[in-house]
Formats: sequence, C-alpha cells, structure tokens
Amino acid sequence: MKVAIVGASGAVGQEFLRVLEERKFPLTELLLFGSSRSAGNSYPFKGKQLRVKELKHGDDFKDVAIAFTSAGASISKEFAADITRFGTVMIDNSSAFRMDEDVPLVVPEANARDAKQRPRGIIANPNCTTIQMVVALQAIEQLSHIKRVHVSTYQAASGAGAAAMDELEQQHREIIAGQTPTVSKFAYQLAFNLIPHIDVFTDNGYTKEEMKMFHETRKIMHSDIEVSATCVRVPALRAHSESIWVETEQPISVEEAKAAFAKAPGIELIDEPAEKKYPMPLFLSGKDPVHVGRIRKDLSNPNGLAFWCVSDQIRKGAALNAVQIAEYLIREKNI
Ligand SMILES: NC(=O)c1ccc[n+]([C@@H]2O[C@H](COP(=O)([O-])OP(=O)(O)OC[C@H]3O[C@@H](n4cnc5c(N)ncnc54)[C@H](OP(=O)(O)O)[C@@H]3O)[C@@H](O)[C@H]2O)c1
Repeated sequence: MKVAIVGASGAVGQEFLRVLEERKFPLTELLLFGSSRSAGNSYPFKGKQLRVKELKHGDDFKDVAIAFTSAGASISKEFAADITRFGTVMIDNSSAFRMDEDVPLVVPEANARDAKQRPRGIIANPNCTTIQMVVALQAIEQLSHIKRVHVSTYQAASGAGAAAMDELEQQHREIIAGQTPTVSKFAYQLAFNLIPHIDVFTDNGYTKEEMKMFHETRKIMHSDIEVSATCVRVPALRAHSESIWVETEQPISVEEAKAAFAKAPGIELIDEPAEKKYPMPLFLSGKDPVHVGRIRKDLSNPNGLAFWCVSDQIRKGAALNAVQIAEYLIREKNI
C-alpha cells in the first residue's frame, strides 16, 4: 500500500513520519510532498532518507491508497481533486472540509464508522482541541446524555505550527538576553503571557477556533450538545490542556465518572490530587492518550461535573487520530 504525506516538513507532517513508523503501519512505500521551500529535503523513515517532492497538479497520487494531508486549508482545497481523482483516500488535517455534509469528520473513539461514508474520498480530521474533548465527552455520554459544555482551553504554541514553537523558544532567549522579543506568529509576545485569541474573531464575539468546538463536536457526536468555549494560547510548547465543565441529563457521581474514564478507549486517568498526580502538558507531550484528571462535582449544579484534560495535539490532535482512522479502514477492509 502506497501512502503519501502532504506537508511532510511541518509540525504535523513530522509527527506522521514518527507515528507511521512506530505503529508499523502496513505501507510498501511512503511519498513525501511539500512546497518548493522543502522540496529536496530528506527526512528519515525506517532507516532510510525519504526526499520531499514538490506538490504540483497532475497524477502523482495515481497509485497512492491514502494521503495524509497537513499543509493548510487552502492547499487542501486546491489539491483535493488531484489527490482523490484516482481513488486515493484523503485524510485531511485542515479545516477545509470539516463541516461539509458529504465529508465525514471522525474521531475513531466516537464515530469510526462514519469514515466509511466518504462520497468525495475525503475524511476530515477534526480540530485538535475538539478531538481531545470529544474523546473525554464520549466516556461521559455513555453514562448520561450531555446537554452542554463550558470549556476553556490552554493551547500550546506548536498548535500554530513548527515556526510558532520556534518563535516561543526564540522569545525566551531574546528576553533573557535583554533584547526585544520577535513577534510574528502570534498577535502579541507569547513568552510570559497568555493570548485569549486563536484564529479570527467572528460576528458573535467568539473566535473561529471556539466555534469549531461548537460545530465539530455536534457533528462528530451526532448530538444536540451545546459547547461554549474560550480558547487561549499559552506559553507551553506542546500538548493542549482544557478545563471542561459538563451538564448531563442525569447526575453523575465522581466515582461513576472516574470508572467511565478509566475504561474508555484512548483515555488515561491521572487523578490522585493528594499525591500531586494530575495531567500536565510538560510531561505528556509525545504521548498517545487523552489524559483526564481533577474530576469533581460542580458546586453550582447537581448535574454538573468538572474535569481537566491534557493531550498532545500534534499526536492525538492530528497525526495519530488520522492514522487511527486509516487503521480502522484497513481493519474493516474498507480501503
Ligand atoms: N500544529 C498542530 O497542532 C495542528 C493540529 C491539528 C491540525 N493542524 C493542521 O494541520 C495543518 C498543518 O499544520 P502544521 O502545524 O503542521 O503547520 P506547519 O508546521 O506550519 O507546516 C505546514 C506544512 O505545509 C506545507 N506547505 C505549505 N504550503 C505548501 C504548498 N504550497 N504545497 C505543499 N505543501 C505546503 C509546508 O511545507 P514547506 O515547508 O515546504 O513550506 C509544511 O510542511 C494545518 O491545516 C493545521 O491547521 C495542526
């Protein structure tokens, strides 16, 4: 099975290389694509160096079974027809097609089967903040229907790409050297700061990132769930954190919630506050699971439950989720 990565040099593209190798993904050949900037660069995969080819219109995807695309929404839109023309399944990490009715939006722990209905040959990977939240919500939904969610996110610099992570490191070096920090990837200096602004503002006062959490969660969970989000960029390098409050139809005890999280697929429960054990992004970068902790009853609502959730957004929030979709399709002989 020939597989391609589009955007191989990027934060998500590099993670695809690691995840595919670690999970022994059953591929016979891996093709890497990028812009003219990274064309010719080589990246290691299974002991060999693979060269990046410039992405161009044409028939490069003719024998490719799966293309993992992570080069931004405009590139996904521009090249989708070239990629899917000969039957390649395009699993896309950008926001280009997520809310299109004829494109499934998939978190395998919640709605793997949706991936089989793909009239355009495209499957969308949800936004990273949505993926980790949905994995956690799915465990609670098994106990009682979730009516609404309030969530505040604490999103790492790398969520804005490899260059943004570099900029945060550079800002720290510059500040310590007494220099004015370089600011180009974010609206303000991120080092020693928090920025309550991710993606562009919409007419209702929420940002697009916040509205993605509203719309995408409903589509993935096939639910009338309402999500009100505040998305904040924080000076962590990698792994997003979320403070999540849910209101369910029936009250759920902390013990019931813990048991549900502990047995749910894709979740690791870290909840021993007396031992100072709770999820933190510094220690959970590069890990596969969605980590949940600090589970407690909401003091203002008998049907409310609050918890803390941390996951590596380049891994489960992007590359790993996409590879898990592909693995599901292979298991189901649907590719
Ligand atoms: N970072 C995350 O945590 C995260 C999580 C979920 C989803 N995503 C989504 O994944 C996508 C990539 O994000 P990222 O963080 O990996 O960004 P990134 O680090 O900035 O990488 C962007 C990639 O896109 C490639 N690219 C840009 N223009 C191209 C063109 N004309 N033709 C071919 N390739 C081109 C770049 O290649 P060159 O080096 O050649 O320019 C690079 O490999 C975005 O849609 C993002 O929203 C990111």
